[in-house]
Amino acid sequence: MRLKYSIIICFICTIIYSQNKNFEPGKQWKDTDGVHINAHGGGILFVDGVYYWYGEHKTEGKSGNTSLVGFSCYSSKDLYNWKNEGIVLKAEENPNSEITKGCIMERPKVIFNKKMSKYILWFHLELKDQGYNAAKAAVAISDSPKGPFKFYKSYRPNKGVWPIGFKNENKIASADESKLKSWTPEWLTAVDNGMLVRRDFEKGQMSRDMTVYVDDNNKAYLIHSSEDNLTLHISELTDDYLDFTEKWTRMAPAGHNEAPAVFKKNGIYYMITSGCTGWDPNEARSFSANSVLGPWKSLGNPCVGEDAALTFHSQSTYIFPIQGKKEQFIFMADRWKPENPIDGSYIWLPIKFANEKPILKWAEKWNLNAFAEKL
Ligand code: GAL
Repeated sequence: MRLKYSIIICFICTIIYSQNKNFEPGKQWKDTDGVHINAHGGGILFVDGVYYWYGEHKTEGKSGNTSLVGFSCYSSKDLYNWKNEGIVLKAEENPNSEITKGCIMERPKVIFNKKMSKYILWFHLELKDQGYNAAKAAVAISDSPKGPFKFYKSYRPNKGVWPIGFKNENKIASADESKLKSWTPEWLTAVDNGMLVRRDFEKGQMSRDMTVYVDDNNKAYLIHSSEDNLTLHISELTDDYLDFTEKWTRMAPAGHNEAPAVFKKNGIYYMITSGCTGWDPNEARSFSANSVLGPWKSLGNPCVGEDAALTFHSQSTYIFPIQGKKEQFIFMADRWKPENPIDGSYIWLPIKFANEKPILKWAEKWNLNAFAEKL
């Protein structure tokens, strides 16, 4: 009898002590089955007391960055301990499907549409064997945050529509602009003036790295790297979150921003992005605005301290509010491992503020009490 109780107590103690109580950026993050979490380029949605973390399911080896499996989902009540909920959008066997195995599906972001009572998953889609040329935004739908999601449609956004406030004189190409040498000041000015918007006007604008943001009035926006990753586009979504309203703006033209992540604090919108160096880390940027559609003001690199110039060897993916806390936000980033993508790790840090600017400071180990600590 005594032995039986000891075994039970031992079992309970193992459960209690094996629970995570901290975030350890860059380390292996084990799920509740003891396996490193596989949810890269991810995003978070909070539903009825549960956080859901959606991300790219990577595989081993060089092909591990193509989508051979799909998007995974993990759930947690405390943000430290995550249960694997499985694959919520599967890469399909059908070779004619746009999401056939071997395509590239990146940066899944799930939002809830109150009106339709549906979960809507937006992601970056590249068609199989076309590298990063397709540059599409794609959307899938589910009745539950745990999926399964059903692929709905892919887009080149804003086909045949000029951005808000686009000048008439910029709607017509200047005769010699196609001859301009890339990265010269003249070429950058031409990009700023909409050379690539004009190029993609008929076909629809490019959409690579992306995020989705839902405002307090339930209007949602796709924020996507466009114009060969030179300019971010902010495109308003229709009320069902499945299409575009044709209301869109350009942000930081020719500024070369990727990996956008947005949050709103005390009525001000903030965005953190990266530069464009593929899987290699670079210096993050931050911006603020009084409206999601802009204008956005540059606030510089939000990272401070050692390795601030490399975003602590990571690239932004999402920012989310902590439920039940006022204005506390977690910055999520990826430390990519292109040689074995499944080993990629997660850099989560608390967002602090100084002089109205978001600040990210490295922490080897931290928990939610860190928000109470001074910078
Ligand atoms: C990064 C981007 C990733 C992925 C990668 C491919 O810049 O943020 O999501 O697309 O490039 O090289």
